[in-house]
Amino acid sequence: MKKLITNGLVVTADHVQRADVAIENGIVTAIGHKLGDSGAEVINAEGRYVFPGGIDPHTHLDMPFGGTVTVDDFESGTRGFACGGTTTIIDFCMHERGKSLRHSLDIWHEKARGKAVIDYGFHMMAGDLQDDILDEIPLMVYEHGVMSFKVFMAYKNTLQADDKTLFRVLQKAKSAHALVQVHAENGDVIDALVEDALAQGHVQPQYHALTRPPAAEGEATGRAIELAKLAGAPLYIVHVTCQQAVDKIGEARRRAQPVFGETCEQYLVCDDTAYAGPGFEGAKYVMSPPIREKSHQEALWNGIFNGDIMVLGSDQCSFNFHGQKDLGKDDFSKIPNGGPSGEDRMGILYEYGVVQGRIGLSKFVSLTSTTAAKLFGLFPKKGTIAVGSDADVVIWDPHVERTISAETHHLQCDYSLFEGFKVHGQATDVLVRGEYVVRDRAFVGTPGTGQYLRGKPFGYQ
Ligand code: URP
Ligand code: ZN
Ligand code: ZN
Repeated sequence: MKKLITNGLVVTADHVQRADVAIENGIVTAIGHKLGDSGAEVINAEGRYVFPGGIDPHTHLDMPFGGTVTVDDFESGTRGFACGGTTTIIDFCMHERGKSLRHSLDIWHEKARGKAVIDYGFHMMAGDLQDDILDEIPLMVYEHGVMSFKVFMAYKNTLQADDKTLFRVLQKAKSAHALVQVHAENGDVIDALVEDALAQGHVQPQYHALTRPPAAEGEATGRAIELAKLAGAPLYIVHVTCQQAVDKIGEARRRAQPVFGETCEQYLVCDDTAYAGPGFEGAKYVMSPPIREKSHQEALWNGIFNGDIMVLGSDQCSFNFHGQKDLGKDDFSKIPNGGPSGEDRMGILYEYGVVQGRIGLSKFVSLTSTTAAKLFGLFPKKGTIAVGSDADVVIWDPHVERTISAETHHLQCDYSLFEGFKVHGQATDVLVRGEYVVRDRAFVGTPGTGQYLRGKPFGYQ
């Protein structure tokens, strides 16, 4: 079926132009004027923007964590993301200790199969990596299209890897043209601070933030950057939250080291007063790194402005407030870490970035789609609107005014991190490879239609 999107303002990371977009067999076939609409369904985008589908490179769906499993799986999660304008995710496949990477990858394929309504790729989370498992890295890249590997420098006694493991992964990744991602927090120091807090009887959610200070993130960020430099490997820092980490990334990039920063929308707009909410409410914001004191927001926006932070991931990792977060009712260290953020990733950046004048439309597209596609080997199939690209398109109405709420979101999770936030703009129609998943603001996608995406090796664009 042919489609022709007319009269919209087509926005890519490079330019903004008034043009029509022709789609056939799931691919963009022409961009221009007077394209001819014979046999095509015409979608009049007058007064709306036409963005490339969003790419969220940081999601955790159907993931066991903290003694429970995320409430959103590949069906409810991708439904929510689609409604927010995201058409591709890269989810974290969790490596099971002692098992092969292939084993864990098979499990993640099974989780997505028959459920995903948008396209998806995988990163591999790497914990204790013995030599035989490290040797699987090239196979992952070249046979399975998994080209990025995440190492945790925090979550002591569960996911945390030591520096030798991180260094070995960096070495291996370099030779396999893979990209290493780090969760940069000093897990040993945090472990000591948590011990101290609990020993003093401090069990409430706000101690989650107090025991994970910005210095612990800054130190680990700097250490990971030094190890990447030593290994000669590129490095991607996930969920950057604070001035200290932005500074380290900036210093590295000023000396031309390939280091790439990602932040998440919750760190741009929420602050640590969220932990002081009534009763146990602060648990909704227990994630790692924690939500920071407000002044750090400015550091993140500055990082976005000067390009040190170039990707917006959501770090969607949702647990219900009732029945999951309350596992830590009497001990903040037992609250499952993470929140439901993926549906509002683009909406929050649009309001606080574009509407409030911090970034322009092309930068919005770059942060929400294009740069992730480039770094994770999906460009130009994904991440842009160009002839030959997949017709993943978001038609965005900038005039809509709405209030974010768990009452109306499409995720399964029983709360929203952004409850009551008033924003402008909404994805009214969303196409994945030319097919509607959202039409006139209603979800119309079909579970199982999302396709697996193989990432090209790093630097092969
Ligand atoms: O609290 C978080 N961020 N949960 C998800 C796991 C991670 O660290 O990314
Ligand atoms: Zn993390
Ligand atoms: Zn994460």
